[in-house]
Amino acid sequence: MDKLIISGGAPLGGEIRISGAKNAVLPILAAALLADDTVTIANVPHLHDVTTSMELLGRMGVGLVVDEKMNIEVDPRTISTFEAPYELVKTMRASILVLGPLVARYGAADVSLPGGCAIGSRPVNLHVKGLQALGADISVEQGYIKARAKRLVGNRLVMDMVTVTGTENLMMAAALASGESIIENAAREPEVVDLANFINQMGGKIEGAGTDTIYVQGVENLHGTEYRVMPDRIESGTYLVAAAISGGRIKLKNTRPDIMDAVLQSLREAGAIITLGDDWIELDMEGRRPRSVDIRTAPYPAFPTDMQAQFTALNAVAEGVGTITETVFENRFMHVHEMQRMGADVRVEGNTAIIRGVKRLTGAPVMATDLRASASLVLAGLVAEGDTVVDRIYHIDRGYECIEEKLAQLGAKIRRVPS
Ligand code: EPU
Repeated sequence: MDKLIISGGAPLGGEIRISGAKNAVLPILAAALLADDTVTIANVPHLHDVTTSMELLGRMGVGLVVDEKMNIEVDPRTISTFEAPYELVKTMRASILVLGPLVARYGAADVSLPGGCAIGSRPVNLHVKGLQALGADISVEQGYIKARAKRLVGNRLVMDMVTVTGTENLMMAAALASGESIIENAAREPEVVDLANFINQMGGKIEGAGTDTIYVQGVENLHGTEYRVMPDRIESGTYLVAAAISGGRIKLKNTRPDIMDAVLQSLREAGAIITLGDDWIELDMEGRRPRSVDIRTAPYPAFPTDMQAQFTALNAVAEGVGTITETVFENRFMHVHEMQRMGADVRVEGNTAIIRGVKRLTGAPVMATDLRASASLVLAGLVAEGDTVVDRIYHIDRGYECIEEKLAQLGAKIRRVPS
């Protein structure tokens, strides 16, 4: 298993290009199952989760062609089985996203239940309840969700809580149901909008994505198309924090400032000077140490849970005391204990981390059990004295394309070594 070694101290500077969004491309790959023809997906990031999704589709018999620019051509016409096996679902929970498309398009889906996860229990009861309301017959047998249906029938779906992949699964299923579905208390995340745009480009009739009420007029079939995935707002935010934490100055290209309000606001509070264009963001700390910020995570448009670990790292070296309150997942402070080993002054009380910034962290061997926590340890390493060795970086490779190349391009001293 590879490790990353980071020698802290250098302020970051320069320009990088932001990749396509992991959490948009995963549902879009699943939604390709809905089509009657080939779809081509562009701006696909080279990530381990994308490889896992392709393996999942490939095992079902779906045709896949990838070119040197990571454009992926998906041909669902050769599909022969409708199963997402445990060994893939356990490595990537987002595999659950094939449930809705399979049952809507092929009337059958056998998808392994994901089970618990490092950041919380993460049940999928709302995915199941919604599909049942659309007429699917669902049972759980030997750890698998078995869903069967003739044609699904549109319905009013009131979500008990805001769930991103739950909203996406139901939106995909409703796209081929007969009649209209209304999803209330829907997730408003920009990735839900990207998925709706993709389905509409295949001939779907979805309105209201990006608000809490989504209207889906089911259609008979969906055709092939070419689609470009939106930029990754979490990758963008992570590099902005990397610059802010190190007192540096960077420019991100190919990004979307319009969907990053909460994160940009927190960075301004931390003392960053931010300049925006349509598809670029420039952040300048003018060599200053950041100020602590208070953060509370919640569904979009509030502050994203996928950015809280990175801001924990920022607060760890900021001036003053900052709090991070996590309201989306019940157990997302794994990074705190590793940062404490680097000299961070953090106390966790319930779902809040109280962080008193220190002038310097010290490098240490660390590891994390989820993607964003691992990224936060890399950020902490950028400003720590000496070397930080981040283990188990397969988590990072799930969601950050070429992280060490991009950070090195910005002047960080970082290298990957096999263990
Ligand atoms: N929940 C339920 N029942 C359900 C579904 C969700 O109780 O049926 C709960 C969850 O346990 C959680 C809350 O609802 O407490 C919100 O979870 P959500 O379903 O929104 O999360 P998700 O769809 O599984 C997506 C992202 C995550 C991101 C969350 C929150 C993808 C592929 N994953 O997960 O991304 O943290 O939304 O924004 O889109 C990451 O990229 O590192 C990552 C974990």
